[in-house]
Amino acid sequence: MSNEVLGADVFYRHALSPEDRERLPRYRHLLDALALSPVATQLLDATPPEQRNPMLILAALHFNALNGEATLAPLYEAIGEVDPEDFAQGVVGALERDPTLVSGHLHRRTQTNEPGRSAILGQVLRALADRGTSDVHLIDVGTSMGLNLYPDFYRTNSGDDGDLLNFEVLELAEPLVDTPLPAIHQRVGIDLNPLDPQTSDDVQWLKACLWPEEPLRRRRLEAMLEAMFSWPPASRRRGSALDVIDDVIDSCPSGATPVVFHSWVAAYFSRADQVTWRETMIRHTRSRAIWVYFEYPPAVKGLNPPAATAASPRPGGSQIVVTECGREQASWGWTHPHGRWIALSPPG
Ligand SMILES: C[S@@+](CC[C@H](N)C(=O)[O-])C[C@H]1O[C@@H](n2cnc3c(N)ncnc32)[C@H](O)[C@@H]1O
Repeated sequence: MSNEVLGADVFYRHALSPEDRERLPRYRHLLDALALSPVATQLLDATPPEQRNPMLILAALHFNALNGEATLAPLYEAIGEVDPEDFAQGVVGALERDPTLVSGHLHRRTQTNEPGRSAILGQVLRALADRGTSDVHLIDVGTSMGLNLYPDFYRTNSGDDGDLLNFEVLELAEPLVDTPLPAIHQRVGIDLNPLDPQTSDDVQWLKACLWPEEPLRRRRLEAMLEAMFSWPPASRRRGSALDVIDDVIDSCPSGATPVVFHSWVAAYFSRADQVTWRETMIRHTRSRAIWVYFEYPPAVKGLNPPAATAASPRPGGSQIVVTECGREQASWGWTHPHGRWIALSPPG
């Protein structure tokens, strides 16, 4: 992440929002134990500043468990029943005995692909349709496996029918917008390392990036991987968003508005790159694009997020920022980092 001055122990302790620390006792205990472990702090300190995210360490440990590592696999498989402190001590003990469990994976990236964010993106797109945008090309920056390129294939708060692609979103401000979504013409995902749903190592890494105390997210990912094969194809563009965005936008056919979206991505840019990204995107919104992001403001200071009219209703929220074509950038509200709740209030 772009904050380069904090120590690794502070990163570990603040990796989860307060509400997620409450919900996920085993990961809370594990993060607190990692914060006290010299091996774990050295490993995090060894990562490049843009990748210095405890989620990378958690994902590496989980990846080993998924691949059957003798100590970790039983702890993760029984995670619902294991005492949180026993879980934490067991995992940290394994890491301290064999730091290569993590050091062997530090070339990877935190690539959590959370489709819950699509429910929130869907809300912003519906609000944009309300304001006259009927046709879009969706460009998902930091797309990972591309699960957020299909907001038109999910439902939101449509009753408890067991459908894994029906997202439950808590409304903390206005009721959900029910205007139909704009038509999505092209879907383009940009990533430094686009993950391929047909490559088993990529799928396993994506599973490892999920939090093991949330089995619903795991089941949803599996359902999506299956469903995606019958959905319209998306194009994946490998490269840094800063290098390729001009070409991606310029290649979009006329007749629809390019909507450039990112969530928990700019936090991985250096501060200088955040400043450049902002200048680049503002330039595109002056001609034909709309720029939408959900990012955690302290991690994206270089984007200079606009002042919010109200504070996040819960700590750790991602700010919803929208720059419509030819208009000033505006704060549209807040969302849980994985889309569990929304407080959307577009300006008049
Ligand atoms: C935490 S994941 C978020 C994935 C996805 N946006 C979501 O919300 O589910 C961050 C993603 O951003 C990508 N990324 C980081 N820096 C990037 C850059 N400069 N250009 C393109 N992608 C980048 C990473 O490879 C990773 O897949």
